[in-house]
Amino acid sequence: MRTFVIASQVNIIVGSHVWVEDPGLAWIDGQVTRIDGQDVHVQTTNGKKVVTNISKVFPKDTEAPPGGVDDMTKLSYLHEPGVLQNLATRYELNEIYTYTGNILIAINPFQKIPHLYDTHMMEQYKGAALGELSPHVFAIADVAYRAMVNEGKSNSILVSGESGAGKTETTKMLMRYLAHLGGRSGVEGRTVEQQVLESNPVLEAFGNAKTVRNNNSSRFGKFVEIQFDKSGRISGAAVRTYLLERSRVCQISDPERNYHCFYLLCAAPAEEREKYKLGSPESFHYLNQSKCYKLDGVSEAEEYLATRRAMDIVGISEEEQDAIFRVVAAILHLGNIEFAKGKEIDSSVIKDEKSRFHLNTTAELLKCDPKSLEDALIKRVMVTPEEVITRTLDPEAALGSRDALAKTIYSRLFDWIVDKINISIGQDPNSKAIIGVLDIYGFESFKQNSFEQFCINFTNEKLQQHFNQHVFKMEQEDYEKEQINWSYIEFC
Ligand SMILES: Nc1ncnc2c1ncn2[C@@H]1O[C@H](COP(=O)(O)OP(=O)(O)OP(=O)(O)O)[C@@H](O)[C@H]1O
Ligand SMILES: [Mg+2]
Repeated sequence: MRTFVIASQVNIIVGSHVWVEDPGLAWIDGQVTRIDGQDVHVQTTNGKKVVTNISKVFPKDTEAPPGGVDDMTKLSYLHEPGVLQNLATRYELNEIYTYTGNILIAINPFQKIPHLYDTHMMEQYKGAALGELSPHVFAIADVAYRAMVNEGKSNSILVSGESGAGKTETTKMLMRYLAHLGGRSGVEGRTVEQQVLESNPVLEAFGNAKTVRNNNSSRFGKFVEIQFDKSGRISGAAVRTYLLERSRVCQISDPERNYHCFYLLCAAPAEEREKYKLGSPESFHYLNQSKCYKLDGVSEAEEYLATRRAMDIVGISEEEQDAIFRVVAAILHLGNIEFAKGKEIDSSVIKDEKSRFHLNTTAELLKCDPKSLEDALIKRVMVTPEEVITRTLDPEAALGSRDALAKTIYSRLFDWIVDKINISIGQDPNSKAIIGVLDIYGFESFKQNSFEQFCINFTNEKLQQHFNQHVFKMEQEDYEKEQINWSYIEFC
């Protein structure tokens, strides 16, 4: 960046066309009217007079093509306002993709553009050299595929960007294109590529949630490894996931939601809801902390059936599906168990009949003994080399145990589903090469941050120090038991 600042200092004279910062628009263009030492006076095109330091003034390319350039290495000035202006110009013309060399930049169109991703478009990009056609996500997948087929090289494609930028949608397009290139049309039954593509709705039902930024935000990282045989056909695949946001299972804030699967199950056909003793989402503590229950334009009942169908395709049996949803329902009931103070000091009991009903239902759904479950919630067992110590918990600590159990069950369920998908798709031990697609995620920084935000956001130096000194050696569960007030740590 510094080299550009120097370049701008050298080039700027009275009359120069420049970019200056604008609090509302980020950057605004204008013309230099006066220079006093380090101070540059600019008359902007929106009628303002701005005086700013010369290091904050960037030259504007007045000869840039009106429609922008499709590869930003062609820009005369590769500085922030130049890049943003070029992307904005192209976006206005519905060109959502732009290259910077062999990196593709995608801007979220927030509307369906079906022709951009249809089979005809896929056929066009097949075998075309990068840069020969308009920038496109298919071109990136094609380069990876050709390098693999021609040179036997494995490749990975990294998709990054802030929440809501379109990473997951882009990842799906990449997978669809690779399935198109390496798929086996006309094969009977479930093909590997079909299973890989259908693993998306299943993973999204259990790993995605509505956040303030994205109605379908991935709350886990995902690396999909697609294996190919020596003729370039898809022969196996593996999905690796990491760092599921566990805290969301028990704690959500308005207007966000918990994981989609909870709402889908509450909208299941009546006989299934009865089987799991489910009511409306409003009746469950893990869901009613936020007043948002529905998503615009989404029918939960239809999505439930679609998720079931996707589970069929990825090879999760009826019986296993039933077990999965029993666990989902059990977590909802678990969250409704409340505790009251017990007779002894620092002890607790199940609060009332309603809580007792949820405890019994949880035990029934998890197929465990209700008394053992109750003991596990209101007591803590510590094993020392000498003895096993059992101590009772006060109601607050019992709530902590309840939530820790819900989070652990949910994350184990998620991992189990991923394993199941992988076993069902199958790995090819003789695979010649792979193409990996990484849908990496960036966590937001909230007022109240939990473990997940904390361990990803290392921007704050004090936090980093604190983490290294006190927390680094802790396991995540120990960490949650500590019940540290993260927002306090952030602000200290
Ligand atoms: N290429 C696209 N065409 C049409 N709509 C898109 C496209 N990319 C993204 N969107 C829209 O933007 C929404 C958010 O995109 P997506 O879920 O891919 O974001 P993300 O980067 O994965 O966010 P997060 O980090 O929260 O998971 C999608 O649900 C979809 O409505
Ligand atoms: Mg995503």
